[in-house]
Amino acid sequence: MKRITILGATGSIGQNTLDLIGRDQQAYDVVALTGGQNIAGLARDAKAMRADFAVTAHDELLGDLRAALAGSDVEAAAGPAALCEAGARPADWVMSAIVGVAGLKPGLAALEQGATLALANKESLVAAGPLMLRTARQNNARILPVDSEHSAIFQALTGEDIAAVNRVIITASGGAFRDLPLENLADVTVEQASNHPNWTMGQRITIDSASMFNKALEVIEAREFFGFEPDQIEVLLHPQSLIHALVGYRDGALMAHAGPHDMRHAIGYALNWPERRELPVEALDLAAIGTLNFETPDLQRYPALRLAREVMRLRGLNGAVFNAAKERALDHFIAGRIGFTAMNGVVETVLSGFTPPMTGGDDELTLDHVTKTDHLARMSVDQVVRDVK
Ligand SMILES: NC(=O)c1ccc[n+]([C@@H]2O[C@H](COP(=O)([O-])OP(=O)(O)OC[C@H]3O[C@@H](n4cnc5c(N)ncnc54)[C@H](OP(=O)(O)O)[C@@H]3O)[C@@H](O)[C@H]2O)c1
Repeated sequence: MKRITILGATGSIGQNTLDLIGRDQQAYDVVALTGGQNIAGLARDAKAMRADFAVTAHDELLGDLRAALAGSDVEAAAGPAALCEAGARPADWVMSAIVGVAGLKPGLAALEQGATLALANKESLVAAGPLMLRTARQNNARILPVDSEHSAIFQALTGEDIAAVNRVIITASGGAFRDLPLENLADVTVEQASNHPNWTMGQRITIDSASMFNKALEVIEAREFFGFEPDQIEVLLHPQSLIHALVGYRDGALMAHAGPHDMRHAIGYALNWPERRELPVEALDLAAIGTLNFETPDLQRYPALRLAREVMRLRGLNGAVFNAAKERALDHFIAGRIGFTAMNGVVETVLSGFTPPMTGGDDELTLDHVTKTDHLARMSVDQVVRDVK
């Protein structure tokens, strides 16, 4: 039996992962499930999957979780240290699907125990790519991509020589406001930004798709994960979101990966890798789809893509600054303290004014550096937001 842990089990990716595992429950031994606020959902799934351990991120919800698990054999725990314990408990395959940099430490704990880490939590790779990859190497652990674009690249690279790659194209739907006149963008509401045209996802990644911060994170993630040079990574708008990425080789071939808007494909690929097994995803009917469109993104509409280039050029702790500033600016947007387009200016101001607390190369980047940088960048965002008000 494959021992499985799901970090972020109550979220969109976590639920899709549980859907796949639940279809063949006797093949899996569920070690741990973690969640945040959704105690009823966490307890329901932990009982149904006969998990050993259920963890909520919030200390104050431990009593609720214990009550919801009463009468079952599932052990309950709460708080950041317990999340890391969930990652550290021996498992073969760990889904990293907590949202935000909160997923970094539990993901590292999973790598330290030598698990295969299925990585949906792109924030941890953006904030601490060299540390994640080093930890995986030192512990004979493996990271498999779950973001649909990175899964697509991974699949298009299979059996190929990565040295023969000369370009990679990551596609983007353009998010909720792709066709909105630029002058109206500043006034959009949180509710409008939380509606993705193609995918059903958690609220934060949905808003990040509208601002294109999500795509900016993905470009950096591709750089960190595969080691491509920044100028090899392109982004194309593709409103249908059916081609997830394309890998271009030096002989001119472009290998495209197509699939429906269903994260169970990328999750299932990582779950079954290196095998391919049947998955409950719809087969694409290309004749019915008829047309696929591609266009160059407008950097005036999506400044986050320009900032991602800067982050890739600077490297070091700039990924941690960028991610933290983006997460905190998003908190302020959701709370109604800044407008949608103001997020770009806030992140750029913090990024350009930041002096990272280390001077060495990527090999010297530690968790302590990342944690301090994350904290300082969030405080800088708060200061910038106070100043503009
Ligand atoms: N959704 C997608 O299709 C998709 C695609 C590609 C990549 N991703 C990436 O996958 C990750 C998860 O996305 P999602 O859409 O599944 O998000 P989501 O639906 O918002 O779920 C987030 C999960 O993290 C938990 N959580 C929230 N704050 C936490 C904290 N501070 N500490 C620990 N756990 C916390 C949530 O618990 P509660 O809900 O119980 O509070 C939930 O289990 C993100 O990194 C995202 O970028 C998502």
